[in-house]
Amino acid sequence: DVPLRDLAAERGVRIGSAATVEELRDGEYAAVSAREFDMLTPGNDMKWDATEPARGVFSFERGDAVVEAARAAGQQVRGHTLVWHSQLPGWLTEGDFSAVELDGIMRHHIAEVAGHYRGEVYAWDVVNEPFNEDGSLRDTLWTRAFGVDYVATALRAAREADPGAKLYVNDYNVEGLNAKSDALYELARDLVAAGVPLDGVGLQGHLIVGAVPGGIRENIERFAALGLDVAITELDIRMGLPVTAEKLATQAEDYRAVVEACLAVSRCVSVTTWGFTDRYSWIPDHFPGEGAALLFDEDLRPKPAYDAVHQAFGGG
Ligand code: G3I
Repeated sequence: DVPLRDLAAERGVRIGSAATVEELRDGEYAAVSAREFDMLTPGNDMKWDATEPARGVFSFERGDAVVEAARAAGQQVRGHTLVWHSQLPGWLTEGDFSAVELDGIMRHHIAEVAGHYRGEVYAWDVVNEPFNEDGSLRDTLWTRAFGVDYVATALRAAREADPGAKLYVNDYNVEGLNAKSDALYELARDLVAAGVPLDGVGLQGHLIVGAVPGGIRENIERFAALGLDVAITELDIRMGLPVTAEKLATQAEDYRAVVEACLAVSRCVSVTTWGFTDRYSWIPDHFPGEGAALLFDEDLRPKPAYDAVHQAFGGG
């Protein structure tokens, strides 16, 4: 059958998946990743705790391995992520740094990491998850030091480090129209108006079977109207276990709806799922009793959701 990546290419979009170094060592998994997807996001291996485990000491082995796997498979890389509040190394979270020190630490990190991958990543999630659910700014070490200004600082530093990479702000629960996506919209609008180098917004897409929000296409359209690219960056649609045929059918329609919303807007450039097989997923660890959120089952057999995505891209 025609792989998803060929169908997506004909529609002018990319189809990606997240993967970690460990997962890519599973040969059966790596083969499906290479066959079906033309973009790869390192699930953990370019995060701050992985890339700067001690202050000023950078470690790129893991990230490089993901980039190499992508290169071998003819896949682009979405870099993930430069500035976030989570998966930070202890030296940073426990360091009690002044704002001046944090400013230098953040700029140095971006210069080193985005500089190391200069020319090798298609896009960077420069800032990840800046908002709370009500649209207020999340309280983090970055906002405590700089308020919202850290976003512009990070984007400018990333542009300097890798002028060719598309620079994104990425968040979850911002797929439909709601207070959080309004806040992301207002931030993006203000950044664009101020001439800050922002190229796109990432809508992560950690969704629940039967509860996909409406308004996804309208939401994508309003970001596109700002002149920005939009990417679905971390799509998975989880269900309460056990799996049933009915839940799988609903999940398939949910995946179809998200892909169709992206395909309806020309500035929606890619759909990335957060992993592709229920063999490896963050969901069971973080939401006990839930899972089965991806396109392939644990044995790498395509699920109804795979068929729905295949059809949405125009395949049989
Ligand atoms: O590395 C340690 C390992 O040494 C230890 O033995 C093991 C025991 O639990 O934990 C390992 O760290 C785990 C790490 O993944 C690497 O596997 C952490 O506990 C675990 O919390 C961490 O989860 C990651 C999560 O981000 C953390 O926030 C997931 O793998 C990763 O898929 C997930 O990805 C995030 C995106 O970056 C941002 N959007 C949400 C998405 C899902 O949470």
